[in-house]
Amino acid sequence: MKQFKRIGVLTSGGDAPGMNAAVRAVVRAALSHGVEVMGIYRGYSGLIDGDIKPLGLRDVSNIINKGGTILFSDRCPEFKTEAGMARGVETCHRFGIDGIVAIGGDGTFRGATKLTAHGIPCVGLPGTIDNDITSTDNTIGFDTAMNTVIDLVDKLRDTCESHARCSVIEVMGRGAGDIALNTAIASGATAVVVPEFKFDEEALLKKMEESRKLGKRNFLIIVSEGVGSEYGPALTKKIEEVTGIESRFARFAHVVRGGNPTLRDRVMSSKMGVFAVDELLKGNSNIVICERDGKIVSTDIQYALILDRMYKNNLQDGDLDAFTEEEVARMRAEARETRNRIKELYDIANRINL
Ligand code: ADP
Ligand code: F6P
Repeated sequence: MKQFKRIGVLTSGGDAPGMNAAVRAVVRAALSHGVEVMGIYRGYSGLIDGDIKPLGLRDVSNIINKGGTILFSDRCPEFKTEAGMARGVETCHRFGIDGIVAIGGDGTFRGATKLTAHGIPCVGLPGTIDNDITSTDNTIGFDTAMNTVIDLVDKLRDTCESHARCSVIEVMGRGAGDIALNTAIASGATAVVVPEFKFDEEALLKKMEESRKLGKRNFLIIVSEGVGSEYGPALTKKIEEVTGIESRFARFAHVVRGGNPTLRDRVMSSKMGVFAVDELLKGNSNIVICERDGKIVSTDIQYALILDRMYKNNLQDGDLDAFTEEEVARMRAEARETRNRIKELYDIANRINL
């Protein structure tokens, strides 16, 4: 079995609260095994440039509670090229890095699986506020982002109630409605618009007019960014024109990507970080660490990436060729489960609104 003397840790793609807690856990878990840790700065850009420094016990002190990432993050198109990959591999050899824990989203995992194929074993941790990695129930940063959203929506509720207004609020999530759906339920929103389902605007407008007549003053509508950046502002205008209810549009954008991680994110990130190191040192790589039904487990990266495509109805020719019939059946069941979970949230949000 491969003996690890030194591993690297990096954060890549969109940052997420809890990434620091994960970095801290990786560093401390590795050191407890007598394995050194190198911090790779700016994601794969730092791997290409050799922007790398050793991380000791005290280098990760006072970060468990901090948002952002002390290792910084980047989107690095060069790493997608053969030349970029070769430079990354060369850096690992130069710094004596035997394996890497890569914290990020599906793009980061695509880089990690290629790096593994080039002889540098990698383990991925799901770090993104979007919760758009199908193989895990929760991603690092998702819980914090949702808590930030409801905090802000609660504030909007106050002012909407005072002025008898409607607020249309756009939240991040890329193509996934998870943040919007959960926060719509938790903030008691009037309606939620997500890319996963067709939205009935006419029904909303009619309901708003009726409830206004019955004395309802504030209206809160959550829109996921995945429906398009024009949608929220256009809906705001339409509500005002059709119902006469004064309306304002708010885009929370990157605000919900910052801030101190919640307890849930700190604990899950810590568990995942320790699990990742243990797996890597046991000789398991090309895996992503997931949380399923409250348990920390690992999934093959390739499986996780193809499962995402299956869930998004985006499978390409040959995608399933590398998997056994049992694996494909399990994938289908997991994709179906995720669809059901999203549908259930949507139904609940719509049954208890207005
Ligand atoms: P996320 O990890 O949050 O999904 P990105 O999609 O931007 O964010 O991916 C992060 C980084 O991962 C990219 O900037 C790039 O450096 C690397 N990456 C993405 N796709 C690939 C790929 N196909 N091959 C190699 N590296 C990739
Ligand atoms: O993936 C996280 C995320 O914040 C998405 O919700 C959003 O679509 C995207 O990243 C924004 O990316 P950027 O930070 O490059 O503006």
